[in-house]
Amino acid sequence: MSWVLDLPGRGLIMSARTVAGRLPVRPDAQVLEVGSGSGYYSVEVARRIPDGTLTLLDIQPEMLAKCAAKLTSAGLENFTTRQADGKSLPFDDGSFDALFLVTVFGEIAERDAFLREADRVLRPNGLLSITEHHPDPDFEPAHEVAECLKAHGFVPLQTLGWRWAYTLNASKPGVGESQVGH
Ligand SMILES: C[S@@+](CC[C@H](N)C(=O)[O-])C[C@H]1O[C@@H](n2cnc3c(N)ncnc32)[C@H](O)[C@@H]1O
Repeated sequence: MSWVLDLPGRGLIMSARTVAGRLPVRPDAQVLEVGSGSGYYSVEVARRIPDGTLTLLDIQPEMLAKCAAKLTSAGLENFTTRQADGKSLPFDDGSFDALFLVTVFGEIAERDAFLREADRVLRPNGLLSITEHHPDPDFEPAHEVAECLKAHGFVPLQTLGWRWAYTLNASKPGVGESQVGH
């Protein structure tokens, strides 16, 4: 069903430029995308971190293979892939400046475990960016997502977009200068 994710009209609801533009990361950032699917959003994000790395994680190896092929055919090399479940992320503590997911949050069965892991693998002041849009059947409203994040100690920073197609950016608390950049 990955073709559904790549329908051309999807960009009218939530374009790759929009999602990438809402990730305020430096060009050398270490970024994790959970549930990268076929890579609809991954290419544009990888382009914006030419000196960094985009780590693509998905529970389905077939999706990761499609995603990797898409980035490679776009001439990108600054990425790696990992097949895993978001409830147990195979990375060291503090590995990433930012973690983003698009139309995935509502699909993750063990959400509390995922948010604990997101907190662990992000650096202090790291960014957790959750994008949701209709007509995804697992769509979650922004206020419900914000409550989940707060319960796990994240600080919601801003909600961008509109009710049915939004990005919620939140920060992992930390001391000192933001790792995310501007
Ligand atoms: C609706 S698709 C979205 C794909 C992509 N983010 C996009 O917007 O085009 C959801 C993706 O999340 C993956 N996924 C679902 N649950 C997951 C989990 N617990 N851990 C990792 N990936 C998961 C699925 O395999 C699928 O590729």
